[in-house]
Amino acid sequence: MCLIASISQLITGKIKINSKVSIGGWVRNRRHSKLGISFINLYDGSCIYDIQIIAINHKLKNYKNEILSITSGCSLKVIGILKYSPKNLQNYELYALKIKILGWVDNPGKYPISPKKHSLKYLREVSHLRPRTTIISCITRIKHSIALYIHNFLHKKNFFWINTPLITTLDTEGSGKMFRVSTLDFKNIKHQKDINIFKKDFFGKEAFLTVSGQLNLETYACSMSKVYTFGPTFRAENSNTKRHLAEFWMLEIEIAFANLAYIIDFTEKMLKNIFEYFLNFHENEISFLSQKVENNLFNKINKVLLNKFNIIEYNEAINILKNCKEKFILPITWGEDFSIEHEKYLTNKYFNSPVIIFNYPKNIKAFYMYLNNDKKTVASMDLLLPDIGEIIGGSQRENRINILDKRFKEFKLNKNDYWWYRDLRKYGTVPHSGFGLGFERLILYITGLNNIKDVIPFSRTPYNAKF
Ligand code: 4AD
Ligand code: MG
Repeated sequence: MCLIASISQLITGKIKINSKVSIGGWVRNRRHSKLGISFINLYDGSCIYDIQIIAINHKLKNYKNEILSITSGCSLKVIGILKYSPKNLQNYELYALKIKILGWVDNPGKYPISPKKHSLKYLREVSHLRPRTTIISCITRIKHSIALYIHNFLHKKNFFWINTPLITTLDTEGSGKMFRVSTLDFKNIKHQKDINIFKKDFFGKEAFLTVSGQLNLETYACSMSKVYTFGPTFRAENSNTKRHLAEFWMLEIEIAFANLAYIIDFTEKMLKNIFEYFLNFHENEISFLSQKVENNLFNKINKVLLNKFNIIEYNEAINILKNCKEKFILPITWGEDFSIEHEKYLTNKYFNSPVIIFNYPKNIKAFYMYLNNDKKTVASMDLLLPDIGEIIGGSQRENRINILDKRFKEFKLNKNDYWWYRDLRKYGTVPHSGFGLGFERLILYITGLNNIKDVIPFSRTPYNAKF
C-alpha cells in the first residue's frame, strides 16, 4: 500500500507517473457525473493533500451497485494508474482499475464529519473523529515534526533525554494542585480522616501525578551536565481558559554550571531555532493555516524571528504597567503575579514582541529558585509571547543548602521529604538552571489557533475527560 505522502513527493520517491499504485484511505467528498464518471477525494492523513480518484463506469464492475453509493467517510482500497492532474500539475489523480469498499458509513446523513466546514468547537465534541479533518491532521503532523526537531536540536547540543517519573510523592511547584494516585477503595474506607490511611496505599505514602519532572531531572543535571525531559504533566487547577489543560506536555531542560542569564539567552535561541525550522520546512502547512486560521501567520512568526526579545526585570514591568493609561481589571501590585491582561499589554501593545521578565518576587515563585542578594526576589524568568502570554518558565536553582532549608520553612514544606533533593546540595553542589516550555502553547502559537484544546488529541480540563 502506498501513502499519499509518497505520491506527493513523487520527484524524490520510487513511484512513477503512469505506474500502477495501490492506496488506502477515507472519502473526503465525492461527485458522480451523469456521464458515468465519479470523482472521489480520498485522504489518508499522511500529508496535507487528498488524492482524486477517477472512477469510470465501464472500467469498474462494481460501479453501479457500489461506487455510486459511496459517501463521505467510507474507507476504500484503490488500485489505479497515477496521472498528473490536468488542472494542476502539482496534483495527481488515480485512474481506478479496482475499488474495494472496506467500510461503509452507517446512516450517511448523520456522519459527524460531513464535507461541510465544521467549527473547531463542534469538532471537540467528536474528538475521536476529528483527526479525519484537514485542520486537525495538519496540526498533528506539525506537532510530530516539531517534537522530533526539538529532540534533534537538543541531541546535537549534547543533551540527554531523561524519562522522569509521572508518579511522584513530592509537590514540585508547591502549589498543591495535584491529582492523587491511589489504589485505596475510598468508597468503603471506614476512617477516612485517619492520616495513616496512606500507609496502606500502594506506595505506602501519598502519591500524585507529577506537576513537573524538574526535581528528578536536577539529579541527572548534577551528574550528566545537560539533560531534558519531555512528557505529560498534570495540574489539577480549576482553570477553564484557552491556555490551560489539566494534562499537557512539557519540555523541561536542566543545565549544570548555567546561571539565569545563560538560560534567558538559551530560551530565546531555542525558540527562534524552532520557529525558523517551522517556517522553512512547513511551507504547505503554513499556507493552509493562513487560509483557514490566521492569514498573517508567516509574517507573525518571521517578525519574532528577526527581532531581539525584550528582556526586562519584574520591577521594570511593574513600572510600565503602573504608568500606562490602559485600564486593567486586576490591579498592579508589587509582589503579585501578572494576569493574562497584563502580559498581553506588555507583549501585544507596549513592546509588540516577545518579552522575557526576570527576577520575580520570591513569594510568587517556587521554593527551589535561587534567592537574589536583595532577599526579596529570586533568579527566575518567564518568557511571554504575544496573544498567548507565558510559554516558558524557568530559573536558576537554589544550590546553597542553608538557604534552601530556609525556603522549605517559608513554604511550610518538610525538608526531610526532600532528602534526596537536598543531597544534591550536600554532595558536590553546583550552580544550575533550567526551564519548562509548554508544548501545546508552543503549537498554539505557531499554528495561529486560539484554543489549547484544539492542539492536543484528547483534552483534559475540568469536567471534561470524555474520550
Ligand atoms: O511555569 P511552570 O509551572 O514551570 C515549571 O513547571 C517548572 N518546573 C519548569 C522548569 O523550570 N523545569 O510551567 C512551565 C510551562 C509554562 O510556561 C506553560 O507554558 C506550561 O508549562 N504550562 C501549561 N500549559 C498548559 N496548561 C497548563 N495548565 C499549564 N501550566 C503550565
Ligand atoms: Mg510559570
